[in-house]
Order: sequence, then structure tokens, then C-alpha cells
Amino acid sequence: MSFDTQNINKQRQNLDSYEQIWVFGYGSLIHKVDFEYIQRCDACIYDFARRFWQGSHDHRGTVDAPGRVLTLVPSTGERLFGAAFQVNKEVFAHLDHREKNGYLRHEIDIFVSQTDAQTDSAEKKVKGLVYVGEPDNVAYLGEASIEHIAKQIYSSVGPSGANKDYVYALADALRIHNEPDEHVFAVEAALLALEE
Ligand code: BEZ
Repeated sequence: MSFDTQNINKQRQNLDSYEQIWVFGYGSLIHKVDFEYIQRCDACIYDFARRFWQGSHDHRGTVDAPGRVLTLVPSTGERLFGAAFQVNKEVFAHLDHREKNGYLRHEIDIFVSQTDAQTDSAEKKVKGLVYVGEPDNVAYLGEASIEHIAKQIYSSVGPSGANKDYVYALADALRIHNEPDEHVFAVEAALLALEE
């Protein structure tokens, strides 16, 4: 599989039948929103966990010294917090370009939180898309110890900035939403130890 997944993604789902579609963000999409959307809601998906197992050769690292960014791995019973955006299908050209380094779009059930006058809040299940870097993509780095992941992230920088800032921004966003994530917080703590 090539590094650039834009053409594969274009062919994976026929978005022509949709006016609007939901996309689920579990990483930088939670706090770095550089696209137009119709509505944004807190949301979750089930049976997946976040891991810093995907290589970043284009944003938070380089081809010679890749950084580590998030992908999803199956994790039965897990609830994963994120953000759901309802977008016009044209937004996928931008997202496919932004996330072209090995990520493929997958259809997924998204549980969207909606404030409801009667019940305070309610969850609605919608079908949407999520970007996943699977183990067979060439940018995949895979499992490693928290210390190894933190060391690699600590020393990586790419066109979008320092890899460690990607982790700190996500950890801060999860704290703001009161949605702790064991893996993210463990990598953040290991990075902070390296700063000392
Ligand atoms: C996200 O921020 O949710 C995201 C993570 C990996 C690839 C694309 C988007």
C-alpha cells in the first residue's frame, strides 16, 4: 500500500448519495478543526481504543525520522470519547488530504450526545466515517512500550510542529471534556518526565 491513501479513500465509499455525513474524530480532529461543519457534538464509539501506533512522516515527523500519531485498535467493550462533525461531503477531499499518510475511511456507528430540553442530554446513533491506520499500511509503526513511544515522540518534529505538542494538546482537550484516556495520559506523563 502506498503512503498516499487519497485515491483509495475516494473509491471506498460512494459519498454521492449523501448531502451531509458524520465524521468521528478521536485525535487532532477533537481540537484542530480546519474545515467547515454543520454541527459538532461530543460523541463516542465502542470497541476501539486509541494508540500512538501510526507513523507520521508528513505532519509530526519526517520520512527519515517519523513521529507517532494515533490510530484505532480493536478493544472489545471499550467506550472511546471523541467529537462528531456533520459535514458536507466536499470536506472529505480536505480530510483525505490531511490524513493521507496511511489512513483509510471506515464506516462506523457513532453515538452522538445531544442536549435535549426534556432529558438534559440524549444519545443518538448515527452512521458515519472514521479514519483508521490499519496494521497493513506502510506508515504503521505498531505497538511499543510507553517509554519507547514517548522517546520517539519527544525527538520528532515535522511540518505541523513538534510531535510532543500533538500529545499535549490532545491530553488537554480530553481533560477539558473530563474524558481521561489511560494510554494518552501515560504517554503524556512519560513525555513530561523527559522534559525534566
Ligand atoms: C482524528 O483526529 O480523529 C484523526 C486521527 C487519525 C486520522 C484522522 C483523524
